[in-house]
Amino acid sequence: MLINKAILPIAGLGTRFLPITKVIPKEMMPINGVPILQLLIEEAYKAGVHEFVLVINRQKESIIRKYLSREGKNEKLDRLNKLLDDVKIEYVYQDEQLGDGHALLQARESVEDEPFLVLFGDDLVIGATPDAPNAAKQLIEAHEKTGSSVIALEEIDPEMSESYGIIKPAPNETGPLYKVEDLVEKPSPSEAPSNLGVIGKYICTPDIWTPLSKAEASVGNEIRLIDGFKKLLSSKDLYGLKIEGKRYDTGTLEGYKKAVEEV
Ligand code: UTP
Repeated sequence: MLINKAILPIAGLGTRFLPITKVIPKEMMPINGVPILQLLIEEAYKAGVHEFVLVINRQKESIIRKYLSREGKNEKLDRLNKLLDDVKIEYVYQDEQLGDGHALLQARESVEDEPFLVLFGDDLVIGATPDAPNAAKQLIEAHEKTGSSVIALEEIDPEMSESYGIIKPAPNETGPLYKVEDLVEKPSPSEAPSNLGVIGKYICTPDIWTPLSKAEASVGNEIRLIDGFKKLLSSKDLYGLKIEGKRYDTGTLEGYKKAVEEV
């Protein structure tokens, strides 16, 4: 099925990027003068997605809505205004920060029974050339091939496994598209089943909603999308795709500075 919609869960508090995130959402931090949020919407748009559901919180509401309103005439706004002319943006709210999976659940009614793209607010992937298929496009192509949910992966430094969800690929998978046998959250380097770490870009098929809503019922600290995928594995195929391009974690000052320097 075609992917027409993207959900961007951007209601998190950005505590790793304090103090600036006290007033400025990390998704509004600029790279070459353009907020990361716009770069993410453009990424999905270039991959053929025209409908967006933004999961936000009340504190971020005014700055994000104002930025994405078609106000003002100036040639420096042309790129943004053209984009806004061509996309539909809906806002939903997450009033308590109970995790990225909980944020997605707030957007459930907006996508109904369709598969959809998910882009987290702090993972930017830059391709080797501007014409190379971007990360969203690569994921969509993998979904078209498999008909299943697909998780974006990057090859990580094995020493860093404790900062990632790591997949265990099924036997004999050679990549870059891997059937996933298991997912392990933040394993120690000696327990990591591979060096393939999960990054914040996904295609979800609608069967993710049941395990995610069950996670909600069981009340933990946070409901994570990755927990939903872990539960889904027992009944459905799940794939991981090693993404071509360089990833920047713009959810921390360190990663953001690197992106500003290199992009
Ligand atoms: P992160 O964990 O990277 O973001 O969530 P965070 O919670 O804002 O950051 P820290 O850990 O406090 O520094 C990944 C994505 O999920 C969203 C975030 O906004 C980000 O885009 N998210 C996270 C929500 O929308 N709601 C949540 O409750 C948690």
